[in-house]
Amino acid sequence: MVDKKTRILCVVGTRPEAIKMAPVILALRNEPWAEVRVLATAQHRHLLDQVLNFFDIKPDIDLDIMRPNQALTTLTARLLLKLDDVLTTEKPDAVLTQGDTTTVMSVAMACFYHGILCGHVEAGLRTWDMQNPFPEEANRVITGRFARWHFAPTKGSRDNLLQEGIPEQDIIVTGNTVIDALLMTAAQDIEIDVNLNPGQRLILVTSHRRENFGEPFRVICQALKSLAEHNPAVQFLYPVHPNPNVKDVAHEMLAECPNIQLCDPLDYAPFIAVMKRAYLIISDSGGVQEEAPALGKPVLVLRDETERPEAVDEGVVKLVGPNYERIVQETQRLLDDDVAYQAMARGISPYGDGHAAKRIVDVLKAHFA
Ligand code: UD1
Ligand code: UDP
Repeated sequence: MVDKKTRILCVVGTRPEAIKMAPVILALRNEPWAEVRVLATAQHRHLLDQVLNFFDIKPDIDLDIMRPNQALTTLTARLLLKLDDVLTTEKPDAVLTQGDTTTVMSVAMACFYHGILCGHVEAGLRTWDMQNPFPEEANRVITGRFARWHFAPTKGSRDNLLQEGIPEQDIIVTGNTVIDALLMTAAQDIEIDVNLNPGQRLILVTSHRRENFGEPFRVICQALKSLAEHNPAVQFLYPVHPNPNVKDVAHEMLAECPNIQLCDPLDYAPFIAVMKRAYLIISDSGGVQEEAPALGKPVLVLRDETERPEAVDEGVVKLVGPNYERIVQETQRLLDDDVAYQAMARGISPYGDGHAAKRIVDVLKAHFA
């Protein structure tokens, strides 16, 4: 008689979830005791698909949830209804979910209702402010209430969970799987499919945070415009997030600047190649705050607070808010002052050593195998 394998359902909804879950899916595939199933909620559509293609992961189930500019309440309600059916038919022994999106919160809640064990990858990140980032802080707090295993990337994230009363034995410090994915990818020789001017310094920009929609995002664009005008020999590359609240304003305010190049989101591997080529990065992305220090690239973060304080404490990431003066001053300083630049361009990796997925798999193996 063949022993029944442990059925583990790995869920991905958006681009960063796919990037950070991919190393776990790939590691689980090598485990003879595990049957890995992949559920794409497809909260993102093409952003998700391109990452899954890159890692050669084909979802077993696809909920095709994305709708243009979908409201958060609608998104949550539709996710819960569809997840109900999936958990009923799939009957997984455990579910893994990654990060702090609406997909993640809905998965954790649906697992709770179904009495299914849920592992939270990238657990314990906190700003202690429910409005910043919105709605991610609420998503991860809620997920933390329901999770059976909390895979914390750093000691700081473990301490946050302890502070919330999560039992110590349920928290495992693993490092962040984003570094596993980065190391798998950054070593490859990747073609960059955008026009980069050789000899010019490159500033890479990304921005998509909901709490910056409206006036703060207009301020960010105004600061970029001023910087570009003042530094005509510097090239700005901005792969614009497809959320219409970002895309429409970015094109309206920046399309005419000769040294700002707006483009569609880059595929994951070319994006990493562009990060390697960049002089500095201006971003409000969580993943970019983790990847850039490992590549020795300074990041100016377009937020007033972060749930990723480790790189800020090391002095290689700086918060500049959606604040015109701070964005302009700090960027200009890094362009003009080589000592200040070198202090931020030290290659350090406070978020992981590339072995996070193995540690996660080992915990599941000890429990099930
Ligand atoms: C979502 C997550 C955010 C995460 C980010 C990563 C929530 C509420 N937000 O933000 O935490 O940091 O993803 O990028 O979970 N769209 C497309 N094509 C795509 C993806 C999105 O057109 O492939 C457009 C659609 O109009 C969609 C909109 O962007 O409705 C917003 O997508 P959504 O997932 O709700 O929010 P994001 O801003 O992408
Ligand atoms: N990324 C990408 N293409 C881009 C911009 C970002 O592949 O044009 C990758 C980046 O390397 C990182 C992840 O997407 O791993 C971050 O996703 P995002 O900024 O959308 O979400 P967040 O990390 O803020 O949740």
